[in-house]
Amino acid sequence: MHGDPRTGGAGPGAAGPRRAGPGDGEALAHYYDDSAAHYVPGWRSIEHYGPLVADFLLRSATPGCRVLDVGCGPGQLTRDLAPDVAVTGVDVSARMLAVAAAGRPSGRYERHDYHDPLPEGWGRFDVVLAVGCLEFCRDLTATLRHLAAACAPGARLLVGVVEDRAAGVPGRSRRPFSEDGLPGVDMHCYDVTAQLGAITAAGLSPSSYRYVPAWRHEEYSLLVHYGLWELRRASPATNP
Ligand SMILES: C[S@@+](CC[C@H](N)C(=O)[O-])C[C@H]1O[C@@H](n2cnc3c(N)ncnc32)[C@H](O)[C@@H]1O
Repeated sequence: MHGDPRTGGAGPGAAGPRRAGPGDGEALAHYYDDSAAHYVPGWRSIEHYGPLVADFLLRSATPGCRVLDVGCGPGQLTRDLAPDVAVTGVDVSARMLAVAAAGRPSGRYERHDYHDPLPEGWGRFDVVLAVGCLEFCRDLTATLRHLAAACAPGARLLVGVVEDRAAGVPGRSRRPFSEDGLPGVDMHCYDVTAQLGAITAAGLSPSSYRYVPAWRHEEYSLLVHYGLWELRRASPATNP
């Protein structure tokens, strides 16, 4: 499928595939830079989670709130939120960020790797979205801790983690993300126990969990599933 790098269909670009180093970040940025201009049409043809994200945002993104869109890509998940919602999108791909900024000029778009803490100067967020991006998450607990630290009290989060029940491996597993387009980068999968462990270790509380079809991996003829969690960052305890 042309246009969606997750399937390997976007191709390696003029410079050829870049084998990942230890952190994957440079190879990923290069890969997603290549697909930024034509990502959205391809995404629409293979993904299943868009309506679930839209429903979550409808219930959660209240007037005047601050939304953090993690691994925002071209920004299509949060682009059409009401103008009084303040959107901050983060991604490792500069070209994805440029597309996102063009689509929502009022938004703030920053280059940032979710494995790192968010700068405190960005303030706290009322709503956090991390879907379509944790495929590359090498340390779910640390990443969720960073997101939790950026949450305002009572914040709501929607998080999609690749759950590969067919792997038959307890805890966590990984497989090459795309042999064709992104050699050396793994897709990281967590079973539901590992997901819940990371969530609670990060100080977040689950409101709901669903095991849902997420997107079709055409290179592997595989329907990738997410553990899709709605989470809360607890409000500080109040004195009676
Ligand atoms: C497949 S796109 C999905 C975009 C959007 N979230 C969606 O669901 O449509 C994945 C995005 O995650 C970004 N990404 C991957 N690893 C990342 C990381 N460690 N930190 C921040 N962004 C990352 C990629 O650059 C890419 O733009």
